[in-house]
Amino acid sequence: MTVEQQIHNLREQLDKYNYQYYVENNPTISDFEFDRLMRELQDLEAEHPEFHDPNSPTMRVGSDVSNGFRSVEHSFPMLSLSNTYSLDELGEWIERIEREVENPEFVCELKFDGTAISLTYEHGRLLRAVTRGDGTRGDDVTENVRTIRTIPLVLKGQGYPDFFEIRGEIFMPYSSFDRLNAEREAAGEQLLANPRNAAAGTLKQLQSQVVAKRGLDCTLYQLSGENLSYTSHIESLNSARQWGFKISEHVTICKNRNEIEEYIKHWDTERKSLPYATDGVVIKVNRFSDRKILGSTAKAPKWAVAYKFKAEQALTRLLKVTYQVGRTGAITPVANLEPVLLAGTTVKRATLHNADQIAALDIREGDMVYVEKGGEIIPKITEVELSERAADSKPLEYITHCPECGTELVRYEGEAKHYCPNQSGCRPQILGRIVHFIRRKAMNIETLGEETVELLFDNGLVKCIADLYDLREEQLSVLPRLGEKSAANIIQNIEASKQIPFHRVLFALGIRFVGETTAKYLAAHFQSLDAIISADRESLIEAEEVGGKIADAIIEYFADEKNQIIINRLREAGIKFEAERKQIQSQVLAGLNFVISGSFDNHSRDELKALIEAHGGKNLAAVSANTSYLLAGHKIGPAKLQKATKLGVQIISEEDFIEMIGNDVTNADSTENAPNTAVKFDVEDKTPVNSSNTKSENEPAAQTPIQGSLF
Ligand code: IVH
Repeated sequence: MTVEQQIHNLREQLDKYNYQYYVENNPTISDFEFDRLMRELQDLEAEHPEFHDPNSPTMRVGSDVSNGFRSVEHSFPMLSLSNTYSLDELGEWIERIEREVENPEFVCELKFDGTAISLTYEHGRLLRAVTRGDGTRGDDVTENVRTIRTIPLVLKGQGYPDFFEIRGEIFMPYSSFDRLNAEREAAGEQLLANPRNAAAGTLKQLQSQVVAKRGLDCTLYQLSGENLSYTSHIESLNSARQWGFKISEHVTICKNRNEIEEYIKHWDTERKSLPYATDGVVIKVNRFSDRKILGSTAKAPKWAVAYKFKAEQALTRLLKVTYQVGRTGAITPVANLEPVLLAGTTVKRATLHNADQIAALDIREGDMVYVEKGGEIIPKITEVELSERAADSKPLEYITHCPECGTELVRYEGEAKHYCPNQSGCRPQILGRIVHFIRRKAMNIETLGEETVELLFDNGLVKCIADLYDLREEQLSVLPRLGEKSAANIIQNIEASKQIPFHRVLFALGIRFVGETTAKYLAAHFQSLDAIISADRESLIEAEEVGGKIADAIIEYFADEKNQIIINRLREAGIKFEAERKQIQSQVLAGLNFVISGSFDNHSRDELKALIEAHGGKNLAAVSANTSYLLAGHKIGPAKLQKATKLGVQIISEEDFIEMIGNDVTNADSTENAPNTAVKFDVEDKTPVNSSNTKSENEPAAQTPIQGSLF
């Protein structure tokens, strides 16, 4: 047998075992044997790169190369569904269908609560995976999707069209979600709100090997393509199942309103025992000929509707409202409840968000309140049962002073939350900043847990982040619960943190609104802390994803004398306040000056700047007689274009530029400093980050202290 045949056979076998294990839940060989075959294939592929195949089962482990998410147009739009919470409305929809087509047949399916995906297959092989995006264009997330074991990379059986698209939902089963959150809790990181956000965020991870570890799953619910030979939805799903796709086993034909309502009633209860989240039932017309008659609006097909389940609610008493102080001084009111069972867990606390929320609900201590989970891990109070309110109940008075340090609270313009302004003297704020600084994603001084930070603070050894670098082993080893070994470990970790790259240091400082993503953009744009410190508001806003609110917070942070002292001490300690110099890849652009303007399809502006430098060119801020090229993207200002034309500066597109550097874009997305424009959702921060041409004003300030610690 030739090596090529050997590789081919191993791939076929592994695909089969993979399908049996992940889709059918029916493994036929031991894990050990599976791993052995996998290693054999890996070795052969490593020795024979000429047989590389992106759809080989070895590709499912992902890679550490940063993915760029190209924006891709859908071959036909990904519509959404009209939805209803009312059985009466659903009844009207069914009647309308029954009026318009003869003897319609319906198919009922579970509505999976994840994120939509469109998979394209060519000659039985996965070609592309694209997110829904805005329905017309989505992000190409193929590399990440390849790591999802239930998605076939190569189809089984035969009879599949040469070219087709299949759409479905990528979701995170509860088991993976719980494991992920347990890991995050142990690492002192913010918990993810729900499996839906976790799935969507994971899919946008820049490194596919992270995705591979997160345990995503995928169910498919719609096959499309030209000249499909099926006459009904059910038929097409049954075929897709035979080609190796995971199709829900709960897809059922229903003849009429009664049967549909039965299905809904059954699953409204039974879904609680499913291993994944669902938020409703999708009812579709089965026959394609009927669908054609019914047609679609611009937004949604008329032949399908989603019936959404109501979020689970429970009625309980609000015993007391307490207040938590976060690392930035933000106050979060917390409802302490009489324990009540809700969606399988006992709820004792719920977030009340802020004073406005309390006023809007007119919530009072002693009230009976409705608590809802609605897919979030933190329950919320949706309503007060006024009929049960005590006659002598009094409106709740929001606190005016910090519950921890007694300082009068302030409310900044446009902010819903109250803040304790005593940053340097309020215990939870000081501790919160230190705990944030040592987080794994920040300075990674993990051995120093939250408890030890408190211990060090209470013993007067660490009062701010800079104090960490003055700690000595003998000061630590005498503390209760700390022996010599852990003391040595901590000191070693602190020492190692001096190698942490600049963008993480910037994140670790805990500047308001500067989350992980913003820190990356800032570092990529300014390259050093000094450049950020000396930048004015206008220049700060020039960095991608930085809006006025973030710029103001940065200026405020560095204007504070106490912070200046801390920064100087950190500098003396040897913390990295400069981005690593980019590797020079070539000199093809030597002597050329570029001005970049507008937004681009495949790279962020900072990535393009990095590429210019990596190939020996220079970036200029404005068009002048010195400019060799204006690299123009979308939405470039007309004044800039005019000036360039007047001065005879050559205007080039992103494609022209990439061609100039011989398509060598490796330095753009391999450097950790240059975030990719396509990261529209930052899971770690749970914050939607706007695309490159809009400024994001909403990166999270600090974590609300509530998560992880209380719930
Ligand atoms: S059919 C044109 N079936 O729900 C109709 N969608 O709210 C395409 N979803 O964007 C959708 N489970 O992401 C369909 N069994 C199911 C579904 C489902 C979940 C999602 C899908 C869609 C969203 C609409």
